[in-house]
Amino acid sequence: MSHDPVFGQNGGMPSKLTTAHNITQAAPEVRDTFGRPLQDLRISLLDRCNFRCPYCMPEAEFHKDYQFLTRHQRLSHDEIFRIAAIAVGLGVSKLRLTGGEPLLDKKVAGLITQLSKLQGVDDLALTTNGVLLAPVAQSLADAGLHRVTISLDSMDEDIFRHMSGNRGELSKVLEGIEAAEKAGLTPIKINVVVQRGVNDHTVLDVLDHFRGSGHIVRLIEYMDVGSRNGWKLEQVVPSLDLLKMIQARWPLRAVGRNYAGEVARRYKYLDGEGEVGFISSVTEPFCGACSRARLSADGTLYTCLFATAGLSLKEPIRNGASDTELADILRNVWTERKDRYSELRALEPAEQPLINKVEMYRMGG
Ligand code: GTP
Ligand code: 5AD
Ligand code: SF4
Ligand code: SF4
Repeated sequence: MSHDPVFGQNGGMPSKLTTAHNITQAAPEVRDTFGRPLQDLRISLLDRCNFRCPYCMPEAEFHKDYQFLTRHQRLSHDEIFRIAAIAVGLGVSKLRLTGGEPLLDKKVAGLITQLSKLQGVDDLALTTNGVLLAPVAQSLADAGLHRVTISLDSMDEDIFRHMSGNRGELSKVLEGIEAAEKAGLTPIKINVVVQRGVNDHTVLDVLDHFRGSGHIVRLIEYMDVGSRNGWKLEQVVPSLDLLKMIQARWPLRAVGRNYAGEVARRYKYLDGEGEVGFISSVTEPFCGACSRARLSADGTLYTCLFATAGLSLKEPIRNGASDTELADILRNVWTERKDRYSELRALEPAEQPLINKVEMYRMGG
């Protein structure tokens, strides 16, 4: 295999096992079986969404009679705050609020106010589809949110609309991005899920739109998360192919990671017009430094995006567990963690993807 000076030894092919080789940070308190620290907690506030992106919540499956979690089944903000505080005590320093669509939770600013006061949190971010963002951006910033990541799959209105399941309005998302910038919710990251034959031919337009804006576009390989989106390998556009296409228009240079365990490979335009990232879970798995735990809206803790099962924290919380008991549960789960789904998928590509994986809208991206 040829050595690609820009994209690394493995080109666009699945990488070799990287587990435990690239962890350079100071020893935190809790490490899993591969020595990976628990640093990042992603919290899904609710499983509902105002979009029906076909790669995440296809309309045919998530129709009007679909049973989403009820308010009682979801964790309350106090319960979320309690778990987050315990996780921070165990070494978590990055918190991300996700969904479904987290801005459907009208009281999200109140939770942010609580979370932002936790000592030890140096990154408090939120992922949104952006449609509901403009009117609340300033209040989220005032509550203490540091930054937002916004999903935007195409600048072509028809393709955008199709990829939102005919729900989204591109102009509203752009207004949301503008409002987030005004409110200082920066650096703003723009997530683009790239699907072959759907939006891959519009990738350069997205980059062109955001070049020079200070916002960072990240191109995400379409992943086999969940079991309902009908994922096929042919629909994945390897990041290396995109990189070559972009290089031909705007030369790039690779830059290092911002922090250990960063998911995106970063590149800067040589002409100084900004940065683009590649999230290549299929062709370049990054399990080796994965420090992310996920808390679903129903209070289940997952240690991998591709998990088929997790551990309920809601049960012990509602049965009166103390903070010490909850911390023990969390510590034990992490200490026993062996997950490296994407690496295994890459090593044994012939194997069928797991069935019954928990859906991403439920677990939180
Ligand atoms: P930063 O904190 O800004 O670096 O964000 P991030 O890299 O965690 O990115 P973000 O939360 O925006 O996630 C972007 C996408 O990367 C997600 O929607 C997933 O598609 C993918 N991703 C994030 N974390 C993981 C992970 O642990 N495993 C896999 N396979 N994909 C992930
Ligand atoms: N593959 C890759 N990314 C996905 N996302 C949702 N489903 C998938 C998938 N199957 C992305 C969304 C959003 C983030 C939370 O996850 O576009 O940016
Ligand atoms: Fe909603 Fe995000 Fe899933 Fe699209 S990808 S359906 S916006 S949760
Ligand atoms: Fe982490 Fe699982 Fe993603 Fe690997 S596949 S990076 S272990 S969440």
